[in-house]
Amino acid sequence: MIATDVATVTPAARLRGELRLPGDKSISHRALLFATLAAGESRITGAGDGADVRSTAGAVRALGATLDARPDDDGRNVTYRVASLGADGLSQPDGVIDCGNSGTCLRLLAGMLAGLPMQAVLDGDDSLRRRPVARIIEPLRRMGAELHGRRHDSLPPLTVVGHTPLRAVDYATPVPSAQVKSAILLAGLRAEGRTTVRERVATRDHTERMLRVRGVPVTRAVGDDGGVAWTVEGGTAVQPIDQHVPADVSAAAFWLVAAAIHPDAELKLRDVGVNPTRRAVIDLLRAMGADIEERPTSEADDPDAGEPMADLVVRSSDLRGIDLGPAEVAAAIDEIPVLCLAAARARGTTTIRGAGELRHKESDRLAGIAAGLSALGARVQVDGDDLVVHGSAALRGATTDSLDDHRLAMTFAVAGLVATDRTIIERPASAAVSYPGFFADLEGVRA
Ligand code: S3P
Repeated sequence: MIATDVATVTPAARLRGELRLPGDKSISHRALLFATLAAGESRITGAGDGADVRSTAGAVRALGATLDARPDDDGRNVTYRVASLGADGLSQPDGVIDCGNSGTCLRLLAGMLAGLPMQAVLDGDDSLRRRPVARIIEPLRRMGAELHGRRHDSLPPLTVVGHTPLRAVDYATPVPSAQVKSAILLAGLRAEGRTTVRERVATRDHTERMLRVRGVPVTRAVGDDGGVAWTVEGGTAVQPIDQHVPADVSAAAFWLVAAAIHPDAELKLRDVGVNPTRRAVIDLLRAMGADIEERPTSEADDPDAGEPMADLVVRSSDLRGIDLGPAEVAAAIDEIPVLCLAAARARGTTTIRGAGELRHKESDRLAGIAAGLSALGARVQVDGDDLVVHGSAALRGATTDSLDDHRLAMTFAVAGLVATDRTIIERPASAAVSYPGFFADLEGVRA
């Protein structure tokens, strides 16, 4: 239960239930932003209602689009109607745009604004002010926009002075990042010529899929080195469409792990997004021995058809450790904290190599995972950019600190379901950044 600034979780005898989860956060942000670029009316059903998506909704309003938000029938998610004059009809925001806790909001907006004839300042909370922005400043400057950040252009607040038209670029991203890739592709829509983004390691492809279904040709090529190159043609208009947002696989991950590590569990998760670039957590857990059944609830996967969904049923499992390399880390970047919890309860050792990006998330997640899981009795070591989790730990309740990071708060709360005694999570309210009903669901699945 949430007290004021701590949550206390007691062990659960059994886990049972069927859950409708928050709408996918990455897709919800993009659906709102792309509706703003499209002239006309767009409808978005099943959008997440976490604080991050609300930040993007606020940004959309600040740019002059009209937005109507109503709760969906399930009371959990939101239907948005967005009416916009399109990219050329947006207005200069009156004040600073508050991106809250959301890196996706800030970085995608920066790419979108880079090619618009206006100036905007993007800011956020203390956590967002510690997140790197040089990675977007550099390519967007090359394209002709003017950007400035704090501390020698490394941190927000970020000022964007747009330029029309931009110059097309061919850019290889130095770190695997869907946010950086998306920012450049969005700027590419306002550039003269073709803009290509090359990534050595594949990251989530929602921007590419969602632009395609909105009438923007986005092509994909695979290089000799196995890397992927994405190209957009400048000057193509984004069309308004209606889109349903699948449930967030990153929210599903908490229940996949909860049921897999609990000795008496069966949980059903409805209409979860299983986009091939997001589903790694499902496949990695299966590789660890998790009993996860998947029943597709959308048409067969076709990149032009939007986002695939499936119902997932997960049961108590006997897990074993695995080794993850940098490609798996990029594919499961937001699920690494909860995968470490699964690893702590698995037989054998799990090694996660090349996880340095976790230091630049809503908190330093390498330090946060190690501190929280160690407090609960797990054996976790950080060795440079690698994480080593020695399994088979019997977890015992203790006090853990979420560092005000939603994914750490939920990971430690799930650990509390299988730990002995009481687990205390400090600063649990951050869960509402992506999953407002999380603690209610945590009580609801106790059979
Ligand atoms: C996201 C991309 C990832 C991820 C974040 C959402 C997105 O960030 O961690 O939660 O929606 O594009 P990076 O692109 O910085 O790795």
